[in-house]
Amino acid sequence: LSKLQGVKLPASADFHVHLRDGPMMELVTPTIRQGGVNTVYVMPNLVPPITTVDHALDYQKRLQAVEPNVHYLMSLYLHETINPETIIEAKKRGITGVKSYPAGVTTNSTSGVVDYSQFYPVFAEMERQEMILNLHGECPSKGDVTVLSAEEQFLPILAELHAQFPKLRIILEHCTTAAAIEAVKKCGPTVAGTITAHHLSIIIDSWAGDPFCFCKPVAKTPADRDALLRAAVSGNPKFFFGSDSAPHPAASKRGGEKIAAGVFTQPYTTQVVIDAFDQACQNGVLKEEQITPEIVEGFMSKFGRAFYGIGEEQKEFITIDNKGEKIVDILQSDKIDVVPFRKTQETWSVSW
Ligand code: NCD
Ligand code: DOR
Ligand code: ZN
Ligand code: ZN
Repeated sequence: LSKLQGVKLPASADFHVHLRDGPMMELVTPTIRQGGVNTVYVMPNLVPPITTVDHALDYQKRLQAVEPNVHYLMSLYLHETINPETIIEAKKRGITGVKSYPAGVTTNSTSGVVDYSQFYPVFAEMERQEMILNLHGECPSKGDVTVLSAEEQFLPILAELHAQFPKLRIILEHCTTAAAIEAVKKCGPTVAGTITAHHLSIIIDSWAGDPFCFCKPVAKTPADRDALLRAAVSGNPKFFFGSDSAPHPAASKRGGEKIAAGVFTQPYTTQVVIDAFDQACQNGVLKEEQITPEIVEGFMSKFGRAFYGIGEEQKEFITIDNKGEKIVDILQSDKIDVVPFRKTQETWSVSW
């Protein structure tokens, strides 16, 4: 991808991040800009989850105190205590959206949704208030449903929610299958899908045996990955970047306990996406002609900002270069550590 060498792009926007709280927040939040990103949409799955506007705004202040040069868009965790009045208050006080986790499918999702129709009055108010609904699109494993089929099994729920609330902006987060891409395309312009950096390169074999590639939804087949790559470079504004960077302490990826789900890409988010495009060109999945600066800008910055309606308030630029920079093997403070995706491997570089 030599033609992207030295190219100047608008700062990336990452519409799906887990920044945690406490020592992990202090460690990872300063790395957002290192990944070429100046705008993030922050996930609410803290312990306890963020179910009130006060909690969300309080958290936003803590994030700003750690790294003031990032624009933090905040979300609430869909929960039985959230009602239409909460939505009205949330909109008034500057909250952007609501994330729904199906009960029990991933990190801190034990208090997630069992029956979506229970929340129809909340979705109706969100539609009126022009708030965003972010879906973790997986059905809980049960009977025939496994981590491999969980996303595909969820897709009828997306179609149904869109049919019930056609004006509600809905995002199918972290798409991992060709079927998910098709389902998003089939819906109207109020439905979009985010794609992570890591799902553009890894497949089932990557996480089978490597806990640092294990996340929910799990990476699927090569054909699925290729469908994500093609969607990301298609220029279709329904598909944009959301890293789902999800740090866990190194010990919870390695210990004798159940392995925590989440891939940590934060310090190299833009870089890892460009690496994936680069690799896909070398494998013949994509063609170099397809990867223009405009295409990269659409996916990494423009389409997401447009869907969220946040315009151009942060006019900052980054430059990308391929000069053999190496991903660090660990990030650590005196309290906590986290291992980045593709540690010690070479990647593109970002400068501001
Ligand atoms: C998951 C679990 O324990 O299985 N967490 C959860 O349900 N709250 C963790 C996971 O595998 O994502
Ligand atoms: O892999 C994941 N990790 N998927 C999620 O949905 C949550 C995330 C986390 O918070 O660790
Ligand atoms: Zn999710
Ligand atoms: Zn996530």
